[in-house]
Amino acid sequence: MDAIHEQGAALGKSEIRSCFDSDTGTLDRRVFADEDIYNLELRNIFARAWNFMCHESQIPNVGDYVINYIGEDQVIIVRDKQGDVQVLLNTCRHRGNALCRAEQGNAKSFVCSYHGWNYDLNGDLIGVPGLTAYYRKDIDKSQWGLAKAAQVDHFHGLYFATLDPDAPSLHDYLGDVGRVGLGLLLAQGDVEVVEGVQRNIIDCNWKVAVDNLFDWYHVQYSHASAGIAGFMDIAAILHPQNQMVMLGEYGHAISGPAIPQDKQDFLDGLSDEERRALAANIAKESKGPPPPIRMKAAKELLGPVGVRSMGHPNIFPNLWVSTNGTQLCLRLPRGPFETEIRWYTVLPKAMPEDVKRQAIAFNTHLFGPAGMLEQDDGENWSQSTRASRGVKSRSYRHHMAMGLGHDEVMVDPSGQSRIETTISEHAQRWLYRNWMDWMAADSWADLKEDHSRVPEGRV
Ligand code: FES
Ligand SMILES: [Fe+2]
Repeated sequence: MDAIHEQGAALGKSEIRSCFDSDTGTLDRRVFADEDIYNLELRNIFARAWNFMCHESQIPNVGDYVINYIGEDQVIIVRDKQGDVQVLLNTCRHRGNALCRAEQGNAKSFVCSYHGWNYDLNGDLIGVPGLTAYYRKDIDKSQWGLAKAAQVDHFHGLYFATLDPDAPSLHDYLGDVGRVGLGLLLAQGDVEVVEGVQRNIIDCNWKVAVDNLFDWYHVQYSHASAGIAGFMDIAAILHPQNQMVMLGEYGHAISGPAIPQDKQDFLDGLSDEERRALAANIAKESKGPPPPIRMKAAKELLGPVGVRSMGHPNIFPNLWVSTNGTQLCLRLPRGPFETEIRWYTVLPKAMPEDVKRQAIAFNTHLFGPAGMLEQDDGENWSQSTRASRGVKSRSYRHHMAMGLGHDEVMVDPSGQSRIETTISEHAQRWLYRNWMDWMAADSWADLKEDHSRVPEGRV
């Protein structure tokens, strides 16, 4: 991978470190409205992090590809002739044209629409029109293949890539909390991404959307209309007195309702068959789709604390595991004031077709451009971002101190730690503390050395 461009280098570290105050829980609004900060995020966060690319079920065959992004770098994720997954930058090495224009498909090779350079599925340049007549054979094709991600790896079929050769392994990057977060998707058994990734643009800063996924405070108010319309029982999903927060290294976090320990002890005693019957009963009573079933084996993946989480994980920086592990949402930065939202529905392969249709319909009406909840959210995110642009308005810091100093980190004998609490802003504070660590670090070596360790004691 060639050197990453040097945008955003002008911002001083003390300036970055002043953006969020962990002691008072206040945040400088410039983080939502400053071009230099945005450019530094592209370099120090997105080009450095492991970014979600796709699930293996989206590209099962040789030549299958999907398009995604690492920050603003567009990439082609393709299964090559050896069956390996390649992550190639979607930019021709001749004049930079985008090679692949479709969102997904199957290709034998990638031919550029400008002058016809042709690249193999592993990115090698295999064809140059006029090689003899115009170039007089004076071009070394081996030097002009497509640029690639520095590392590609997967967690149980969920593919990630990083542009940074010095990034730790995906396993180490995710740590326990990241692995629990993704594990919530896999707790239902063997899963697949269903056809149809939904995309839309919301005029908000990407961090406003990430902050919101941890926000169980807004639900009863912002989404009251969903309750009034009879779409869902808002009170039933809140569990304000049974909230649990898990904080992980490098900024991963999970926050939201938890299954009380005595109920979990009961669930642990159930077979997979009994779990299915329980879910079917709940569906009958609620007249909705059956809730996702966590199989007995899920406890291995999630651990004794993680298995109790019904909360929302964010895999830092921008991947939300939502709707009890049946949806994934990416928040892709498109400048300080715009975010591209991508929704994936992830369901068990073995789910009967009619139940699958029901689950897809429910998810589509919940989030995404037609989602009841996201329409409420998008409006608030947009206006919160807009208010960060005004000279006077942006001089006032955000209040992010809910629960600060009132809770205790509890460590389980398994080593998993959590905060058991009411609705709080612990996860949002963790997001911005870690955001500062990433932004202030010069390299992965620097970040490994100087990042927030999982807190202990009072928080
Ligand atoms: S820009 Fe791709 S062949 Fe010229
Ligand atoms: Fe919301």
